[in-house]
Amino acid sequence: MMRPSVIRSPSLSTEGRRKIEWVRRNMPILGRLEAEFRSRRPFKDLRIAVSVHFEAKTAYLAELFAAGGALVSVTGSNSLSTKDDVAAAVAERGIKVYATHGATPEEFQEQHLLALDIEPNIIIDDGGDLVHDIHVHRPHLIANVFGACEETTSGVLRDSARAREGALRFPVILVNNAQCKYLFDNRYGTGQSSWEAIMRTTNLNIAGSRAVIVGYGWCGKGCAMRAKGLGAEVIVCEVDPVKAVEAVMDGFRVMKMEEAAPLGDFFLTVSGCSDVLTEPHFARMKDGAVIANAGHFDAEIDLQSLARISVEQLDVRENISGFRMDDGRWIYLLGGGGLVNITCGDGHPAEIMDTSFALQALSAQYVAEHRDSLTVDVHPVPAEIDQAVARLKLETLGVRIDTLTVAQESYLRSSQ
Ligand code: NAI
Repeated sequence: MMRPSVIRSPSLSTEGRRKIEWVRRNMPILGRLEAEFRSRRPFKDLRIAVSVHFEAKTAYLAELFAAGGALVSVTGSNSLSTKDDVAAAVAERGIKVYATHGATPEEFQEQHLLALDIEPNIIIDDGGDLVHDIHVHRPHLIANVFGACEETTSGVLRDSARAREGALRFPVILVNNAQCKYLFDNRYGTGQSSWEAIMRTTNLNIAGSRAVIVGYGWCGKGCAMRAKGLGAEVIVCEVDPVKAVEAVMDGFRVMKMEEAAPLGDFFLTVSGCSDVLTEPHFARMKDGAVIANAGHFDAEIDLQSLARISVEQLDVRENISGFRMDDGRWIYLLGGGGLVNITCGDGHPAEIMDTSFALQALSAQYVAEHRDSLTVDVHPVPAEIDQAVARLKLETLGVRIDTLTVAQESYLRSSQ
């Protein structure tokens, strides 16, 4: 028996619906899938639990599953990224919603468990929390689960670790690792939306500033590229020698964080690792340094040390927390150290999530269709799905490409 939805207030739904309608206008691939799912009903009689940053694009994904015949529950993957108005609008459509912005850790956990009460056949996860919760807190529900689809790098790491440990109990499709995901979402989505969020939150100038990017993976590449485009001098900190060489070749200064700490005006962590900005770095930062995180978990900046060594803390303005050091320097933390692009902004552009969520929708359909043959392990998104999404994207962009002739195909296959 499902509990009633847990949302901030039903009265917020009108604005939430306007936001959802806006993204629908800009997510043409999901529009096509919606028409198809409405007629074919591939999720008829199935139950799907969704735990993804709960904003307008995610709302459309949840409603797409419902259009395809599923019974759906939705919760957020980070309480600071939940948009209460969007949650209210989704709940109004009869989908079970358990998400409130700024929920305490206890409330957040409770909301996840309530979402699992749907007894899901398919889990759509972002960061691995729902997969973790069902394994640890609701193991009796695992028998119902055909599989899960994971949205982000940090969740892929967790699910893969669970598989290596022999503890994973159903198949997981690693949506993040599809080319149509990380090449566009992690790189261009995080690049644009992180800087957009930093700019709208601080109202500060980027041109001529120094931006330190921690981690030069797919997200870091996008964040560095966009910082450069905005006129910043970009410094990259890495631990992987190959990525570090790549950053040098891309034209960026690369150095250790202890060297970058006194130089940076803006620090953006996007490594997926823990404790990349810590006390020795805070001790060397300039007065007025702005620090933000775009990695999935708020573990990248050592928030406890920052609070402990500060002699004064101030809510400077919305989403900017000031920390005064004993020598008078201020360090400004954005969005409480959560993902800056979603806690201080609206997340990735709609057109970017159009491809990411098309992969999610088609991967979920794949799980439903292959429920009896998928092994209990982590799996890549099938190449045909990746290719299909790329082709749909090209179609919606009005871009046509060449195809290989028979002679070309045999030339490429020939040893001669
Ligand atoms: P990735 O694996 O492509 O790149 C991470 C990079 O960080 C690697 O090059 C790694 O060598 C480097 N790194 C790891 N530990 C480090 C350390 N201690 N110091 C410096 N560099 C270090 O991962 P990707 O896809 O770029 O994702 C990074 C994080 O961003 C993950 O937590 C992911 O879940 C999250 N993410 C956030 C999004 C957003 O909207 N904000 C969107 C997509 C992913």
